[in-house]
Amino acid sequence: METMISVEDLSKTFKIQRRSTGFAGAVKNIFHPTYEYKKAVDGISFSIKEGEMVGFIGPNGAGKSTTVKMLSGILHPDGGSINVAGYIPHKQRKEYVANIGVVFGQKSQISWDLSPLDSYEVIKHIYRIPEKLYKDNLERYTELLDMKDFIDRPVRQLSLGQRMRADIAAALLHSPKIVFFDEPTIGIDVVGKDKIRKFIKTLNETDNITMIFTTHDMQDIEQTCQRLIIIDDGKKLYDGSLENVKTDCVSTRIIEAEVENMPSGLDIENTQITHDESTGKLTVMFDTDKISTSDVMTALMSTHSIKDISIKEPGIDSVIRDIYEGRIKVG
Ligand SMILES: Nc1ncnc2c1ncn2[C@@H]1O[C@H](COP(=O)(O)OP(=O)(O)OP(=O)(O)O)[C@@H](O)[C@H]1O
Ligand SMILES: [Mg+2]
Repeated sequence: METMISVEDLSKTFKIQRRSTGFAGAVKNIFHPTYEYKKAVDGISFSIKEGEMVGFIGPNGAGKSTTVKMLSGILHPDGGSINVAGYIPHKQRKEYVANIGVVFGQKSQISWDLSPLDSYEVIKHIYRIPEKLYKDNLERYTELLDMKDFIDRPVRQLSLGQRMRADIAAALLHSPKIVFFDEPTIGIDVVGKDKIRKFIKTLNETDNITMIFTTHDMQDIEQTCQRLIIIDDGKKLYDGSLENVKTDCVSTRIIEAEVENMPSGLDIENTQITHDESTGKLTVMFDTDKISTSDVMTALMSTHSIKDISIKEPGIDSVIRDIYEGRIKVG
């Protein structure tokens, strides 16, 4: 398959003014400003094939959004090169944008005062979307994103999850070949996230759209991507199959339970159980490839009277820690 996105030694440094306070400080800020520099993206390279769906993860401030902004041509890189579908994004922005769709979960791109439908009409004119394509896409996205109930209501009245779905449809009305999603599930509940994930997956599979998907939610990645790029502090830390990371880490679950009684000799096959005498807290660690969460819960509840229980999934942070500590092989 053809290479769609090619990034070579990409970097971006931000110049940030250090502000002094008080009157003297204000004068100094004007006449003798001092700056510090933040290397947000520090020599990242990767290439993505047509139709690939790549999860892009890393801790806060890792450089994910900065990379997405450079890929979509909003920011100029100050080192390295980008080629997307034969375009240099920041240099050929006008022709380029017709080929891409961008969704920023943190920032809505449709007007608060209009309904999604009215915004879509505006977008249709801006992008000169042919009537038939527009109608077909609108009908399809309305159905797939379950937007019938709110498509004609002002955006300001919509819930976050509804607004995000409306935003996603807006970014895709012109049938782009490449889509960048920057945290499209942020702040959204489980049901809403599920709708977005299913939609993204459907689109990738049936339309062969190339996608980059940044998120802090490991479940997002697990349900949509085969390939994962992890970045930390502006550098690429891991680039490979999700499977590799998953077998080592993502299938681990930890159940913490507060129990009334603690019978001795508790043993559930395929789990590691520890018990804190002083707090009465029971910690059960297991691998969902070997035993299901519900089986562990059932086993626990059949022997214990449980006061409180919680299930923890490993987050992005623990995946990154596992890489640093060698539990997940990088490369
Ligand atoms: N416009 C800007 N001016 C100055 N510094 C910036 C700017 N945008 C980003 N940065 C800095 O660059 C670094 C990378 O930021 P970026 O937004 O790319 O991270 P991120 O991986 O998207 O993080 P998050 O998960 O929190 O969204 C951070 O240290 C951030 O403070
Ligand atoms: Mg970000």
